[in-house]
Amino acid sequence: MLDKIFQYLKRPKLYEESTAKFWDDDHISKGMLKAHLDPALEAASRRHSFIDSSVGWISELAPCKDYKKLLDLGCGPGLYAERLAEKGYLLTAIDFSQRSIEYAKQKAEEKGYNIEYIYQDYLDIGYRDEFDLITLIYCDFGVLSHVQREMLLKKIYEALKSGGKFIFDVFTPKNYEGKTENNTWYLNEGGGFWAPDAHICIEAHYIYEENIRLNQYVIIDKEGKINAYRIWDHYYTKDTIAEELKKVGFKNIQVFSDVTGNSYDMKSKTMCIVVEK
Ligand SMILES: C[S@@+](CC[C@H](N)C(=O)[O-])C[C@H]1O[C@@H](n2cnc3c(N)ncnc32)[C@H](O)[C@@H]1O
Repeated sequence: MLDKIFQYLKRPKLYEESTAKFWDDDHISKGMLKAHLDPALEAASRRHSFIDSSVGWISELAPCKDYKKLLDLGCGPGLYAERLAEKGYLLTAIDFSQRSIEYAKQKAEEKGYNIEYIYQDYLDIGYRDEFDLITLIYCDFGVLSHVQREMLLKKIYEALKSGGKFIFDVFTPKNYEGKTENNTWYLNEGGGFWAPDAHICIEAHYIYEENIRLNQYVIIDKEGKINAYRIWDHYYTKDTIAEELKKVGFKNIQVFSDVTGNSYDMKSKTMCIVVEK
């Protein structure tokens, strides 16, 4: 056990993966679903009032009469998908949290939404010229490794019809200004977010080259089971994101401050990008 702790407390190699599932873990996904569904919480999803504005903006930018078929990647419990369906889009929505997808399917059935929810890793999609619009919302793009991001961008490009749009968001350097490397720990005797029973969380924040950060959470439970959850983030400037997108063939790059269409400025902690095939 000590060997593992020593190993996990060393600086991980770039893009070293978590040792267990995060979004699709049976316990963690319960807390995540609760967080998604809390209308005032900015955690797993953004506040629901933001999502309302976001959907309003998307439907003006790419109206469903011209962009009918929409693919929402990392849809969670369908907060965007159901609002977009109400606007008239025809939706396919993908997520690899079984709990979120099951919740979303049940809600769609109750409310009569015509949404195809799929439990799948979006890195495995294989569509060709099928969608008018693809969304990937709440800075999930930056979580992926260099290889995964390039692969996903190619798959999104392939999945779009000619003239189709891809809308997504990322963090900017402003989000990390003044944030240094640090670590801390806490004991959660009654159980909590990471585990149902008593556990210790050793939290560390690392800075890597090329605008990359890592938040790592090493969880030791009362049976002595140890896991390291690693959440990477590659953050971007307008130039660095444009470079990645152009490599794959995307054109007409527009940059906003967030997914409600606020104009971009140097103080923005996020950046929403809209590109065309
Ligand atoms: C930060 S949440 C955002 C959810 C939703 N877009 C929203 O804003 O309400 C990220 C979602 O992406 C899903 N996700 C992350 N990586 C994924 C992958 N490789 N394939 C499918 N879903 C993924 C997670 O399960 C989670 O539901």
